[in-house]
Amino acid sequence: MKKVLVTGAAGFIGSCFARRLFRERDDVSIVVLDKLTYAGNLANLEPLAGSPRYRFVKGDIADPEAVRDAMEGCDTVLNFAAETHVDRSLQGAAHFLDTDIKGVFVLLEEARRIGVEKFIQISTDEVYGQILEGEFKETDPLNPRNPYSAAKCGGDRLAYSYWASYGVPVIVTRASNNYGPYHYPEKVIPLFITNAIDDLPLPLYGDGRNVRDWLHVEDHAAGLIFLLEHGKAGETYNIGGGNEVMNVDLTRRILELLGKPETLIRPVADRPGHDRRYALNTDKLKALGWAPTVAFDKGLEDTVKWFVEHESWWRPIKERDPEFKAWYAKNYAERLAAPQTPA
Ligand code: NAD
Ligand code: TYD
Repeated sequence: MKKVLVTGAAGFIGSCFARRLFRERDDVSIVVLDKLTYAGNLANLEPLAGSPRYRFVKGDIADPEAVRDAMEGCDTVLNFAAETHVDRSLQGAAHFLDTDIKGVFVLLEEARRIGVEKFIQISTDEVYGQILEGEFKETDPLNPRNPYSAAKCGGDRLAYSYWASYGVPVIVTRASNNYGPYHYPEKVIPLFITNAIDDLPLPLYGDGRNVRDWLHVEDHAAGLIFLLEHGKAGETYNIGGGNEVMNVDLTRRILELLGKPETLIRPVADRPGHDRRYALNTDKLKALGWAPTVAFDKGLEDTVKWFVEHESWWRPIKERDPEFKAWYAKNYAERLAAPQTPA
């Protein structure tokens, strides 16, 4: 039986991947290593709980002892664990360097020591920086422009260096913005859906014309399972959704789906260094035989429905977690008190 270490699997994407792998491959056992930061939630892993094919280790990927314990006997590693929110990185990047660079180093060292068969480093399209026209290919230069993406870029290239220097069978994946169920409500889609449900303002940064390419989280998980089986060591793969949407249009669609008025849109002070547009060329993955399947309109509609039906998942975070409340006040109180002119 294959034994796969999935780090950061109590978070949004890692948990989707772990649930899907668990569901689809009954010859695989899964070890999860997660520090359970504010973004980690064991409820996301409920379908695995109690199974003999699942072990949970609470620990930090930057802690060699925790990593040694969790990786023992594993032949495959997927590293999802990271500090992931750009806005938080702008308010203080120390944890981002600890986890997104040092943590990757500790995982790679252990993977090298025990000789794993495959190590997938989950990177991000944000390592390329912004692109005003066209699409980034895997061979394009990296130019991260905020502390989150810079830290992820460090992890991305460190992982590659362990392939080039030591032959650790590393694959690097760079996905575009994910959306779907269990998305922590600090990111734009779940924040705007849950604020709109409660008739709270939707704080749209700047002129609202920034563009993101949206990838459904189930497509991302499926793409990673495909790469586990078909990806080549030493290679980097873009995973994009092919759904470019301007933030203001995204916001309007969310409001329309919920039957809420556009007066809830509140233009607020922009994010410093706000990347204007991300776009990925995904020919390399398509040539290997995989492409996403979820159409954005349907994916967004289902996601809105999921949040409407799963208040018991997100309301305790937004209303009772002092950490979330402190973050919301820190990032939004001043912005919401000084609204900008609508775009
Ligand atoms: P998330 O913030 O929802 O979850 C992160 C998880 O990592 C949490 O469970 C947290 O407890 C855990 N974690 C954080 N620091 C840790 C540490 N030091 N040791 C162990 N566990 C730790 O993140 P996500 O959105 O699911 O993103 C997962 C990965 O995908 C990240 O590497 C991120 O950079 C990458 N990615 C995300 C997106 C996106 O749109 N969300 C897009 C492309 C790539
Ligand atoms: P986010 O979900 O934080 O993802 P990322 O910064 O990794 O792309 O933000 C997505 C887009 O939404 C980005 O252009 C910033 C914008 N945004 C807002 O306008 N308001 C918000 O409150 C947030 C969180 C994001």
